[in-house]
Amino acid sequence: MLSDFALTLDPDAEIPLYHQIYREMRQAILTGRLQPGQSVPSTRSLAQILNLSRMTVVQAYDQLLGEGYLEARQGSGTFVGAQLPEGIGELPLPIPLSGANKSLGPLSGYGHHLAQTPGRNFARSGAEISFRYGSPALHLFPIERWRKLLSQACQDDRQWLDYSSDPQGNLGLRTAIAQYLSRVRAVRCTADRIVITNGTQHALDLLLQVLVEPGETIAAENPGYLTVRQKFWQQRLQMYPVSVDESGLMVDQLPHHRHPKGGACWDELDTNRAPLRLLYLTPSHQFPTGAVLPLTRRLELLQWAMRTETWLVEDDYDSEYRYGDRPLPALQGLDCGDRVLYIGSFSKVMFPSLRLGYLVLPQGLVHPVVQAKWLCDRQLPNLEQIALANFIEAGYLESHIRKMRRYYDQNRKVLVQALNETFGTTVRILGDQAGLHVMTQFDLPMGGDEMVRRGRSVGVELVSALPYYLEGGSDREFIFGYGELTAEQIKEGVDRLAVAFQDDELSLQ
Ligand SMILES: Cc1ncc(COP(=O)(O)O)c(C=O)c1O
Repeated sequence: MLSDFALTLDPDAEIPLYHQIYREMRQAILTGRLQPGQSVPSTRSLAQILNLSRMTVVQAYDQLLGEGYLEARQGSGTFVGAQLPEGIGELPLPIPLSGANKSLGPLSGYGHHLAQTPGRNFARSGAEISFRYGSPALHLFPIERWRKLLSQACQDDRQWLDYSSDPQGNLGLRTAIAQYLSRVRAVRCTADRIVITNGTQHALDLLLQVLVEPGETIAAENPGYLTVRQKFWQQRLQMYPVSVDESGLMVDQLPHHRHPKGGACWDELDTNRAPLRLLYLTPSHQFPTGAVLPLTRRLELLQWAMRTETWLVEDDYDSEYRYGDRPLPALQGLDCGDRVLYIGSFSKVMFPSLRLGYLVLPQGLVHPVVQAKWLCDRQLPNLEQIALANFIEAGYLESHIRKMRRYYDQNRKVLVQALNETFGTTVRILGDQAGLHVMTQFDLPMGGDEMVRRGRSVGVELVSALPYYLEGGSDREFIFGYGELTAEQIKEGVDRLAVAFQDDELSLQ
């Protein structure tokens, strides 16, 4: 039964209150706010909710009952009629929500831009075997342990129920992250330089708010992470794509001069043009090519950033998963000039719906970023932060990562071997030393769309790398995610592709 129900009534209007109640409820029924068969408050409780005499509500209900909008069931209460009365079409119904855009009135420039931006399709393709990139192996996450930590955090005390005093994020979690990062990624940080975020996008959003003016230029790798690039566009920033080779970002493509207002520029004399303020990059596992930026380029980049006073935003999204060679420390750990803003995320090492990540900032940026965060979201949920702090402190995160590294390493080897054995010299595999995906370049006598179509026809989803390019790229480059598949599914998927790519019958369908 509904225990609360909002109706808009005007006690000063000429229309009697009982009629206003009748009209509002009828409208709620006709527009679906109240569904057929749903219970409605009794006359007594609605009178209490609306602070009116019960008689007024009884009069309104009598009319609704008489017209069939409501029906009374002996002993169980009053309900919305299961069959709607005739003549609904004559009523002036509010515009349905789906058509809202057209009639909302003027939007801001940004709102207009967003209204015209196509929404992302989050639905799964339904393919039996999907090489889509993104998710970790969720079936291996220690869910029982996580459940216990959540329930423990929930019982311990009631402080977490309140507004947090600290929009920067739970101190226990920041301390655990600081210790973890300095040990595992050689990041130079303390808890007071960490800001907990809702993931990578949120971290970037905060940085852009605090560091960049509309119209200024932002550089990012090409090909690169699409979501980040869309974020830049949304904020009406200029985008400068920097090419990537097998060693990652090509540092020599960056503009070499320092703009008088700070940031880089192409020509010392061209000071009318806004500076390049910030460079976003994925140095430890370039997305999507998988290249690892070598030490020499890292040092060149840091020198460039210091000389031109440009910010470097390091997205270290999946470097915990490194196979073979020794782990390369984060770029941030080499930075002596406070130019690197480090973004980390728990989406790959825990699970994506956790929506927790972090920023490691130079001390001077912490306050403005925390202010921006407070104004935007006030704080992130406490419970998950406490549970995560305990998960890290107890050593569960690192043991989970160790276990998952073995699992992904196995999947990676199976995939690389299957692709090489099946496609031989017609496939080139890039970036297989880290992460949860590899990039492939095929040399087959058919276009990329045809390959995707043939894959689909045998129940295999292929993900083209082309959308990740701002310029250039080939439609026969694909991202092969292997995180959420089993070794058997990987082999089966590659086998099916081999058949599909050879079978000329399929191309005629
Ligand atoms: C390059 C890159 N950065 C970051 C992330 C993680 O994003 P988030 O923290 O918003 O889940 C991903 C996820 O796929 C990614 O590909």
